[in-house]
Amino acid sequence: MIEPAVERAELQARRDVVSFVRRSNRMRPNQRRAWEAYRDRFVLQVPRLDSSTSVHPTASLDLVQSFGRDAELIVEIGPGAGESLIPMAQARPHANLLAFEVYQPAIARLLAQLARNCTDNVRIVEADAVAAMEYLVPARSVDELWLFFPDPWHKARHHKRRLLTPEFAALSASRLKPGGRWRIATDWADYAERMRVVLDSDPCLDNLHPNGWAPRWDGRPITHFEQRGLDAGRQIFDLAYRRVS
Ligand SMILES: C[S@@+](CC[C@H](N)C(=O)[O-])C[C@H]1O[C@@H](n2cnc3c(N)ncnc32)[C@H](O)[C@@H]1O
Repeated sequence: MIEPAVERAELQARRDVVSFVRRSNRMRPNQRRAWEAYRDRFVLQVPRLDSSTSVHPTASLDLVQSFGRDAELIVEIGPGAGESLIPMAQARPHANLLAFEVYQPAIARLLAQLARNCTDNVRIVEADAVAAMEYLVPARSVDELWLFFPDPWHKARHHKRRLLTPEFAALSASRLKPGGRWRIATDWADYAERMRVVLDSDPCLDNLHPNGWAPRWDGRPITHFEQRGLDAGRQIFDLAYRRVS
C-alpha cells in the first residue's frame, strides 16, 4: 500500500506546466552511439514517477559513490550540450558537477564531448530540474548553482512556463549551503527584471551586487545561445546571489 504522505508528494510531483517542450528524443546515429557508449559512465539513473523526465519522490542520489569522491558540489540546470559546462568543469577539477537536462539528444552530445575531453567530474540526470532539485538534492548541500540562458518563453501567454518562479527560487535557495552562490544569465530583459524581483524578495538570498545586475562573469564561456542573443542586439543580464545563513 502507498503511504498517504508519498501519495500526496506524488500528486504534487505531477506538474502540468513545465519549462520545456516534450520534444521527440529521436537521436542522430552519432548521438545514439555516444549515448550507448557513455551513458553508464556519466548518466545517473533515478526512479521515475510517470514520465522519462520525472523523479519519484522517494528517489535519492549517492553522490560520493556516483563521483567516486566527496567534493565541492556545483549544480547546473539545463546545460544543453554542455558548451559552457565542459570548459567550466575542466577549469574546476576539484569540484563535482551535477547537471539536470531534459533533452536526450543534447545529453548525448554532451556525453560525446565529456568522453572526448576526458572530463570525469560531471554527472548528468535526465530530469526536470524542478523535480530533481526537490527530490535528488538535499537541503544545504550545493556550493554553487548555475542557470544560464533558461528558455525565455517570451510570449506573454507562455510566461507561466518560465522556470524561475518564486517557488523554484525558494526551493533552489534551500538547496544551497549557507554562503553558496547562485549565478544566472539571460538575454531577455523582461525575464531578467522578473528574476531580480523574485530573487530580491527571497529572504534566503542576498543579491551580491548593489545595483542588482552582476558584471558579466568571465568564468562563463559564450555559448551559441548567448551569441544568438548578442547577434540579435539583446543585452545580456547576469545575476549573482548568496544564500544567507
Ligand atoms: C536555451 S537552452 C540553454 C543551454 C545552455 N545553458 C547554454 O547557455 O547554452 C535551455 C536548456 O534548458 C533545458 N531545460 C529547460 N527546462 C528544463 C528543466 N525544467 N529541467 C532541466 N533542463 C531544462 C533545455 O532542454 C535546454 O537544453
